[in-house]
Amino acid sequence: MGTGIARVGMLGAGTMGHALALVHALGGLEVRLQDNSPAALARAPLLVDGALDTLLRGGEVTEQQAQAARGRIATTPDLATALQGADLVVEAVVEDKEVKRALFAEIDRLAPEHALVASNTSYLDVFPYAAPRRARTTLVAHWYTPPYLVDLVDLVGSDATDPAAIEALRALYASWGKKPVVLRRFIPGYVANRLQAALSREVNWLLDEGYATPQDIDDAVIHGLALRLPILGHLMKADFTGLEMTRRALANATVVPAPDRTRCETLEKLLEAGRAGVMSGAGFFDYGGRSPDELFRARDERLLSLKRHLRDIGGI
Ligand SMILES: NC(=O)c1ccc[n+]([C@@H]2O[C@H](COP(=O)([O-])OP(=O)(O)OC[C@H]3O[C@@H](n4cnc5c(N)ncnc54)[C@H](O)[C@@H]3O)[C@@H](O)[C@H]2O)c1
Repeated sequence: MGTGIARVGMLGAGTMGHALALVHALGGLEVRLQDNSPAALARAPLLVDGALDTLLRGGEVTEQQAQAARGRIATTPDLATALQGADLVVEAVVEDKEVKRALFAEIDRLAPEHALVASNTSYLDVFPYAAPRRARTTLVAHWYTPPYLVDLVDLVGSDATDPAAIEALRALYASWGKKPVVLRRFIPGYVANRLQAALSREVNWLLDEGYATPQDIDDAVIHGLALRLPILGHLMKADFTGLEMTRRALANATVVPAPDRTRCETLEKLLEAGRAGVMSGAGFFDYGGRSPDELFRARDERLLSLKRHLRDIGGI
């Protein structure tokens, strides 16, 4: 297991699927990208080209690497074709229990016996959907968008997953410069999404209760919280703060966590006003008529530039 991974069946060609096809193709694997929506399948190569263009212009890949990666991705509407000869199946279809359950049954029917089956689910416990004979080779490999720029990938198996299956993917992704984090057992949201959920709960409450404006909040995040995070993470920052102080802060009952709510009034008002985010031209902020494509490229260029600097300066 591991070194034998050459061919990938990538199921789902949406926001994550097309980008994961690119990640695996850049890693040198042959990818068959499948989706049951003809529109999604037609759009995927264009999105891959756009992402490759950003990586090329950012100096992350050479023209030759970009062309080779592009040549390794074939699209197909047919599940059997996508799974034929696959050493790795990446499941990146819509986050819907029934859709995933049905797809896992099809994977069991059509995928080679030896194939690793990796789900990109964000929150669902998909392990019960795997056929018993697939339990050893079924795991979660959860990426962040855009996965060709964000290196973190959460890896986790069930009790029945063969540790060698997890190690095979860990080693493969690490060899591509990715940052696999292996969790000891499944928990919805893994680490980063759970931390983000905790942050969102506070932010939504601060907005709804009128303590701060969206600009105030993002100023605090960008200029306070974020600057140290890429260098120190969270726990090393605690070491620099000093653990005595950290203990005092923990015991300080004046900071009561925001109540757990499933609705944010500020967000609801924005959506009612048609402000759905970058795709609709505005959200918490106005984007002065700039197109989503222009904004995505601007974001990606800055992310790339930041990654380069972080690589140069290294950790503490
Ligand atoms: N969007 C993100 O930021 C993000 C990040 C990490 C993980 N995820 C996870 O990745 C998965 C995909 O999310 P997404 O954002 O790419 O969704 P998406 O809606 O953009 O794409 C899902 C695709 O699955 C296709 N699909 C649905 N049923 C199918 C089937 N039976 N066979 C083949 N294709 C099918 C749809 O046509 C669609 O193109 C989800 O499990 C989600 O939780 C998403």
